Amino acid sequence: MKAVTRSGYRWPSVCGGLAECGICVMEIPEAPPRLLTPGSDLEAERLQTVPERRVHPEAVFRLACQFQPGPAHVVVRKRGVRQLEAFA
Ligand code: FES
Repeated sequence: MKAVTRSGYRWPSVCGGLAECGICVMEIPEAPPRLLTPGSDLEAERLQTVPERRVHPEAVFRLACQFQPGPAHVVVRKRGVRQLEAFA
């Protein structure tokens, strides 16, 4: 989320990256979970509460504010990400 924000995009968030709101949740549709960096207990706890996981239990979801991409190329899916006008 920080990298995207630095690139001129607004990523949905209420808590500002404290792993409290779950609004930043994103789907990682293509990367096998074994190639992703493990999440923290805090992230796992918050992910239990996001509605997207109940709707699509087979999908891989992570909190953008907590996720560290690691060496793997990662494509994510997130509704509501917008380019800031200053960067357009
Ligand atoms: S920004 Fe609130 S949980 Fe990630």
